[in-house]
Amino acid sequence: MRLVPASLSGRIVALTLLALVVSQLVSFFIFMHERDRFLERVVLSNMGESVASAMRTLDFVPPVHRADAVKALSTRDLRYRLADSPGRLFEQHSPEARGMARDLARGMEVDVARLRVAIGPGLAHGPNRQAGDALRLAVRLDEGQWLRARQRLFDPTRRWAQSSLTTLLVSALLMVVIVVVTSRRMTRPLRELARAAERFGRGEDVDPLPERGPEEIRRSITAFNRMRERLTRFMAERTRMVAAIAHDLRTPITALRLRLEFLPDDDNTRSMARTLEDMAGMSEAALTFMREETAAEATRNVDLSALVDALCEDYRASGAAVVFEPEARVALVCRPVAIRRALRNIIDNALAYGERATLTLSDGAESVVLEIADTGPGIDDADMQRVFDPFVRLEASRSRETGGTGLGLSIARSVVQGHGGEIGLVNAEGGGLIVRIRLPRDRTR
Ligand SMILES: Nc1ncnc2c1ncn2[C@@H]1O[C@H](COP(=O)(O)OP(=O)(O)OP(=O)(O)O)[C@@H](O)[C@H]1O
Ligand SMILES: [Mg+2]
Repeated sequence: MRLVPASLSGRIVALTLLALVVSQLVSFFIFMHERDRFLERVVLSNMGESVASAMRTLDFVPPVHRADAVKALSTRDLRYRLADSPGRLFEQHSPEARGMARDLARGMEVDVARLRVAIGPGLAHGPNRQAGDALRLAVRLDEGQWLRARQRLFDPTRRWAQSSLTTLLVSALLMVVIVVVTSRRMTRPLRELARAAERFGRGEDVDPLPERGPEEIRRSITAFNRMRERLTRFMAERTRMVAAIAHDLRTPITALRLRLEFLPDDDNTRSMARTLEDMAGMSEAALTFMREETAAEATRNVDLSALVDALCEDYRASGAAVVFEPEARVALVCRPVAIRRALRNIIDNALAYGERATLTLSDGAESVVLEIADTGPGIDDADMQRVFDPFVRLEASRSRETGGTGLGLSIARSVVQGHGGEIGLVNAEGGGLIVRIRLPRDRTR
């Protein structure tokens, strides 16, 4: 079991409750202490006065009636009795009781030697207090008899503890409600920020967030907005630059082609013409890619299995061996046109370097995994990273005259990464290449 709640508002609630309980406990003990001292003083002075007046009364009562008079003077909480000794209990009195005896003697104006005091359970300190006698006292009368008095005390501790527990519970409940409401309000901008960052990371368009909430959260939002602005500008700038280069390359390529027309037709010029053809193709492909990249497609919830199925159906219609067995319906928030473009590039490779493509789609809580396997020669481990770079074509494929510019995989990777996903290559056990694409689910939705 975890003791610390995961969410920020949960932690604020826990902290507030802890502070509440600690402060209640501290004030409970302070109160207990103060109450003990107060009770002691009240009991002492009350009892002192009552006993003194009882003594004065007894002075006027003839000895034969004294026993009855003492009974009549007794009340429910203060009982008197006449005896020949101060009682066993009073032999062993504590320093505290001696101090009380001194105070009492002063208040009653009698010699302290005539007084015995014992503190009962009713006046014990703190949690040791119980219902019962608070104080017992014996004072020697002039005739040598002892007037014994016992003061009972109603113990209010239990009731106080009960009511303070109720107060604690009620105030804790109120506090939890207030703290939950306010802390959820306070952390709402933070949750919005997390959602926006997640979506931005997945390549979605996000509007700048309103800068609100507590100071620290506001500063984070400002930083996020600034980062979003710079990244968007940087990406647009980069796309524009590559597009401009690809575009401007067309003019010199055309000029070279024209000049080539005037040269004699031999192996040399034919090879030059082929190279120029390649260059024209590359710049054309780069331009197309950039055009598609800038045509910012909106994300939407897509039935991915249906999308893949339809794509494979198109291939099969043109006679290609592309297999897809959809298991369950897999939906994903993504940009369908871009995903289709990436898949087409990979299936094209599978068909160009192998003969058939087999697709599988599996669903997970965190992400969706798409695999495209082929029956080709696979790729050397050393080349697996390189083939994703733009315009990289391996020697083997060049000699096979498959055509192409070497942009297919880099476009596919850019699409997958634009969705916050990963793309990787593995050589299958029985030969052939497996392209594995992992697309994360949006967990903030
Ligand atoms: N399934 C595969 N099996 C073997 N080699 C592959 C496979 N897919 C890609 N390759 C190698 O990786 C290189 C880069 O692939 P990429 O798709 O980026 O470019 P391309 O297919 O050569 O050209 P195009 O831009 O037309 O797709 C290929 O030239 C090829 O050598
Ligand atoms: Mg390709």
